[in-house]
Amino acid sequence: MNAPTLISGSTAIVGVLGDPVRHSLSPVMQNAALAAMGLDWVFLALPTPADQLPAVVSALEAMGCRGLNVTIPHKHNVASLCRSLSPLAQRVGAVNVLVPLEGGGWHGTNTDVEGFCAPLRRHNSDWAGKRAVVLGCGGSARAVVAGLVELGFASIQLAGRRSEALGRFVSDCQSWAPQLQALPWSGSSLELADALAQADLVVNTTPVGMASASNPAAAGACPLTQAEVAALRPDACVYDIIYTPRPTQLLQQAASRGCRSLDGLEMLVEQGAAALRLWSGQPEVPVAVMRQALLEHLP
Ligand SMILES: NC(=O)c1ccc[n+]([C@@H]2O[C@H](COP(=O)([O-])OP(=O)(O)OC[C@H]3O[C@@H](n4cnc5c(N)ncnc54)[C@H](OP(=O)(O)O)[C@@H]3O)[C@@H](O)[C@H]2O)c1
Repeated sequence: MNAPTLISGSTAIVGVLGDPVRHSLSPVMQNAALAAMGLDWVFLALPTPADQLPAVVSALEAMGCRGLNVTIPHKHNVASLCRSLSPLAQRVGAVNVLVPLEGGGWHGTNTDVEGFCAPLRRHNSDWAGKRAVVLGCGGSARAVVAGLVELGFASIQLAGRRSEALGRFVSDCQSWAPQLQALPWSGSSLELADALAQADLVVNTTPVGMASASNPAAAGACPLTQAEVAALRPDACVYDIIYTPRPTQLLQQAASRGCRSLDGLEMLVEQGAAALRLWSGQPEVPVAVMRQALLEHLP
């Protein structure tokens, strides 16, 4: 890897806006990539309280910021601060990347969808007509469902524990995801076990099983019961978008059932690589350097 770029009077800013954002892994992988590309840019985590979002976004534009990632809790609200939005960001209802526009203002887009799809495309070149079950109906599930539609899945069953949130999600997406169906998820649901038994792909978008420095014991949790894991088809693929720990409890149990598995690290790398392509205008970015920087940083 190249030596880190020396910060000087001409160094430009790129960064991630969020609250909290201290634990973001984007600075680790983006600064490694910027050094490898020889760009005189520095990538910063920029803590941004919700009531300061408009001021921060406009100040960064005034400072000549080259591009921004946007994370929790701003992915929805930042859209109203953009001069233009990609059709994908409009459809998903979430913006995770801002690109400065010539003439001023920001273009908002979404690279989480591309990040989610990239490992699936590598895993299997043809998902058209297949059946998926998605666990959880929060923020990241939107990008996941958009990705599954893009890959041509014939059936997408969305499992959520709060029927109101689940119903709202499905009706919001109905115009572009007619194959999406609500799957009520409470306790050990027979409906979920049935759906799992037919699924070619199961995606976990809940945080269940995600460990952190403050809660390492959370790694022992699995979003599926033993009976639900036993319902998985051994030829199914299980994709957990969590990347700490690797593998999660869900992926360990799915592997012992014989299922193929994907974790969330590649999604993180690929959404960041897609953002860097947009900011730098360069079609080739050092994806391997980004992945390696994360692997060295993660416990
Ligand atoms: N690999 C990547 O690049 C990447 C990108 C984005 C997110 N992620 C990971 O994805 C996970 C979710 O992120 P998010 O932003 O989508 O969070 P979110 O908006 O809070 O959504 C989480 C969803 O999971 C549900 N849920 C939480 N605990 C549950 C439980 N015990 N049983 C059933 N459902 C439960 C929530 O339901 P309620 O609304 O009822 O709580 C909600 O529907 C996090 O671990 C995050 O780190 C990874």
